Amino acid sequence: MESATPVIVAIDGPAGTGKSSTSKAVAAQLGLSYLDTGAQYRAITWWMVNNGIDIDDPAAIAAAAGKPEIVSGTDPQAPAISVDGVDVAGPIRTQEVSSKVSAVSAVPEVRARITELQRSIAASAANGIVVEGRDIGTTVLPDAHLKIFLTASPEARAARRSGELKGADVHSTREALIKRDAADSSRKTSPLAKADDAVEVDTTELTLAQVIECVVTLVEEKRAGK
Ligand code: DC
Repeated sequence: MESATPVIVAIDGPAGTGKSSTSKAVAAQLGLSYLDTGAQYRAITWWMVNNGIDIDDPAAIAAAAGKPEIVSGTDPQAPAISVDGVDVAGPIRTQEVSSKVSAVSAVPEVRARITELQRSIAASAANGIVVEGRDIGTTVLPDAHLKIFLTASPEARAARRSGELKGADVHSTREALIKRDAADSSRKTSPLAKADDAVEVDTTELTLAQVIECVVTLVEEKRAGK
């Protein structure tokens, strides 16, 4: 690709692979925008919970999917997310939202709404963007210039996530992650999946700095037309 073209980087993979930390750091280092699509699914889930929508009723979720206004910031140094003008960066990380987000994000009307939002944000990023999620390389941005699929062993992922959650029990974190990945991978509409043309990076034995360096190198090679 020509270096003047805004580069679009898709980073997918399950929870606890270092996706968010890597994506933010790569975007910051290369002067690109950043979009956390998981935060958008968490935000719509938070809104459903707060508005009394029955999470076990996909028809009720579908009927409400168009109601909340979700706004995502794209600065990798200060990621922001709001719903109807309310800053929800903190509330979307609760265990309640984590345990309900797979059910909400499996509803096709929710995915259609959020996918449209993601595409318009990516299209307006003048300097290029790193978009992280589960279905970015396969569905949201199939023409991304570079697709990365991050993996790690369940043990490594649980250890990282429980570290982030400050003292959460590793065993129950591992069980919750496995359950969420299974739900995200088996849903009918755009499941968590590696695109055929994605570069797979197993982060189990790598430090965060090594993963960042690896992805930065891949982006730079792409920009140089290698
Ligand atoms: O990245 P995260 O753990 O914050 O994502 C939360 C949930 O959102 C995840 O369990 C599945 C859903 N998700 C999705 O379905 N598609 C995406 N592109 C990103 C996240």
